[in-house]
Amino acid sequence: MKNVNQNFKDETIWIVGASSGIGKALAELLSNEGANLILSARRTIELENINQDLGGKHKILKLDAGNDAEIEKAFTTLKAENIKINRAIFLAALYEPQKIKDLDTEFCEKLFKVNVLGCFSFTKHMLTQFKQQNSDVKQIALCGSIAAYTGLPNGQPYSASKAAVQNFAESLRVESSKDIDIKLISPGFIRTRITDKNNFPMPFIQEPEDAAKAIAKGLKSKKFEIHFPKRFTLLLKLLRALPYWLALPITKNLK
Ligand SMILES: NC(=O)c1ccc[n+]([C@@H]2O[C@H](COP(=O)([O-])OP(=O)(O)OC[C@H]3O[C@@H](n4cnc5c(N)ncnc54)[C@H](OP(=O)(O)O)[C@@H]3O)[C@@H](O)[C@H]2O)c1
Repeated sequence: MKNVNQNFKDETIWIVGASSGIGKALAELLSNEGANLILSARRTIELENINQDLGGKHKILKLDAGNDAEIEKAFTTLKAENIKINRAIFLAALYEPQKIKDLDTEFCEKLFKVNVLGCFSFTKHMLTQFKQQNSDVKQIALCGSIAAYTGLPNGQPYSASKAAVQNFAESLRVESSKDIDIKLISPGFIRTRITDKNNFPMPFIQEPEDAAKAIAKGLKSKKFEIHFPKRFTLLLKLLRALPYWLALPITKNLK
């Protein structure tokens, strides 16, 4: 049944990383709530299928966020088509659980190109686009993680890349002009391709649809950070606030 809430009616929302997991669930929810979507990722077949399920009304824009030239090209395409963006949500990320002793530097480079440099470059272009465009809603939402709060066992280099995104979003929030709203999304464990790779217990794991609901609500709120599930994120925030001599022995046991 169609959702009667049309909270995002006629807004144009660009989701980068829309082909699976949280991005896919968010696309479904926002479409249901009246948004016009631009769906980006590398796997266009998945994007086409999602769009078809949503009535074929959205735009597919293939984008490899690890390739700066492709990011620039995507913005040129939108500009040429005179498309104004209201909200841009950057979810694209790579993940492999790795202990530091097994660090694969080639993979690290790939991961940082997407998770960090892709995110930074996308944001820079989006800010330029927002400066040139006249619209009431101008929002950029970047995806960090609970893994960014503190270095966790087995999380490298992913945790470090998410810490970079979190720090970047914090700077961006304080640097940006008032008319551009910056959000940081910090999910706990969500059942997607990412968590399918984990072979350790994941407390309070949620479904992508739960994440989508929390994100959609957060996009409309005045708060900077959209974090969920609260019963888990608040505990981790408490851990982060402890002095290292107390926090590190606790973290060591979070395997
Ligand atoms: N699942 C969790 O527990 C969890 C927790 C905290 C944070 N997060 C964050 O949530 C976001 C979504 O992840 P997910 O859990 O939904 O996993 P996912 O299903 O693997 O989604 C990742 C998305 O990123 C896209 N992507 C990856 N590399 C890309 C690239 N080079 N260019 C463009 N798109 C790219 C993927 O599409 P293609 O492969 O088609 O390109 C996919 O749509 C990520 O930022 C992740 O770090 C997830």
